[in-house]
Amino acid sequence: MSMAGEIVCRPPETPREREEAFRIRNAVFVEEQEVPLSLERDEEDDRAFHLIAFVDGEPLGTARMLFNGERGKIGRVAVLKKARGRGVGKALMETLKVQAYSRGLKELCLNAQIQVIPFYQELGYRLCSDEFLDAGILHRSMILDLVS
Ligand SMILES: CC(C)(COP(=O)(O)OP(=O)(O)OC[C@H]1O[C@@H](n2cnc3c(N)ncnc32)[C@H](O)[C@@H]1OP(=O)(O)O)[C@@H](O)C(=O)NCCC(=O)NCCS
Repeated sequence: MSMAGEIVCRPPETPREREEAFRIRNAVFVEEQEVPLSLERDEEDDRAFHLIAFVDGEPLGTARMLFNGERGKIGRVAVLKKARGRGVGKALMETLKVQAYSRGLKELCLNAQIQVIPFYQELGYRLCSDEFLDAGILHRSMILDLVS
């Protein structure tokens, strides 16, 4: 893959693009991380705000955000293995933050798998819980204040 590809993050616009997002999640969480498919897709998907990241038109990443009052909850952040380390994850997170601001949210939270805590810390998130197990994977909750 080209290092200089243009990254575009936007909501899926067709049923086919929506399926692309699930396909990426499936590759990352179900195939790579062995999360059961029954846990990977849930009823929250129907009401979540979804994003797909395209690099030179190719769908390579996805994420979603749920809304609970003035708090957004980010989840299912996934970039295909072959595309990691090139800013796709960061672009998804920045686009979710812009969306959160435009909706007047006051904070963003997420449950980080412990091996990717530094990824979220670099984006300004701070730890706000001890470790806990979700889908057999150790996590810690993190939060980002959108107002100071
Ligand atoms: C976590 C994930 C989404 C990051 O996506 P990515 O496209 O590789 O991340 P980026 O290239 O945008 O990285 C942004 C920054 O975070 C850092 N970073 C990325 N992954 C990291 C990791 N695992 N540990 C430490 N730092 C990391 C990068 O060094 C980069 O810093 P830089 O801007 O100074 O270069 C991706 O690795 C992934 O899909 N992992 C598997 C699924 C997963 O664990 N999702 C998170 C569930 S909580």
